[in-house]
Amino acid sequence: MATDKEQIALMFNDIAPTYDKLNHILSLNVDKSWRRKAVKRLKKSLATVQDPMILDVACGTADSTIQIAKIIKNAEVLGLDISEKMLEIGEEKVIKLGLNDRIKLFNSCAENIDFLDNKFDAVFVAFGVRNFSDRMKGLSEILRVLKPQCSLFVLELSEPHNVIVRWFYNLYFKNILPFIGKKVSGNGAAYRYLQQTVEKFPMPKEFVMMLQDIGYQDVKHKAFSLGLCRLYQAKKN
Ligand SMILES: C[S@@+](CC[C@H](N)C(=O)[O-])C[C@H]1O[C@@H](n2cnc3c(N)ncnc32)[C@H](O)[C@@H]1O
Repeated sequence: MATDKEQIALMFNDIAPTYDKLNHILSLNVDKSWRRKAVKRLKKSLATVQDPMILDVACGTADSTIQIAKIIKNAEVLGLDISEKMLEIGEEKVIKLGLNDRIKLFNSCAENIDFLDNKFDAVFVAFGVRNFSDRMKGLSEILRVLKPQCSLFVLELSEPHNVIVRWFYNLYFKNILPFIGKKVSGNGAAYRYLQQTVEKFPMPKEFVMMLQDIGYQDVKHKAFSLGLCRLYQAKKN
């Protein structure tokens, strides 16, 4: 029987061919601006680092990895993901953009990162943490591979606080999103799962506490688009 992680990888393999297209349709392209804003903050944190080495965990089809390499021009970026098919599409995009000298993609998982301790100047995870089969383990592994005084950046969808915005959000996420997801990808269950993972993701206060319990310091977060998305930043001591 497949483990949770294997099932998640199979699900992403299945939706990989339509993942990029659907992402942009479903978010009305706002996902691109969220990644851009997050990477600009990441760049700011690396202002004094000469040639930063950045790890993009759960890099998927490398949209986040490519964004990092484009905005932080002196960086070497390594992306890892459990889904081979998502990585294949990412690899094609990286080659097409001529970024293969600065971006390397690996089939690996957050819960068991194949790198030595204190290796990276920053770690980035966009829309990935909510899919980790063992969130504590994945975030602890990231802490291990971060250099001291360096930061983890987590970009995640979140439920907005405002009651009216939340009403529209629920209508969209629970009804429209799985419907369009099924029509385009043919996998309605995957898009219902994605909606459920957002629902089950800890509230900002709880997620901050989780990061602190694991050992991160100076944890802060910022809401984008009325709280539909949130960027967390957390430092290794
Ligand atoms: C919603 S996609 C996000 C992809 C990309 N970061 C982006 O910005 O579009 C989530 C990705 O997380 C990957 N993933 C899920 N669990 C993982 C784990 N434990 N370790 C590494 N990658 C994982 C999935 O295979 C999928 O490609």
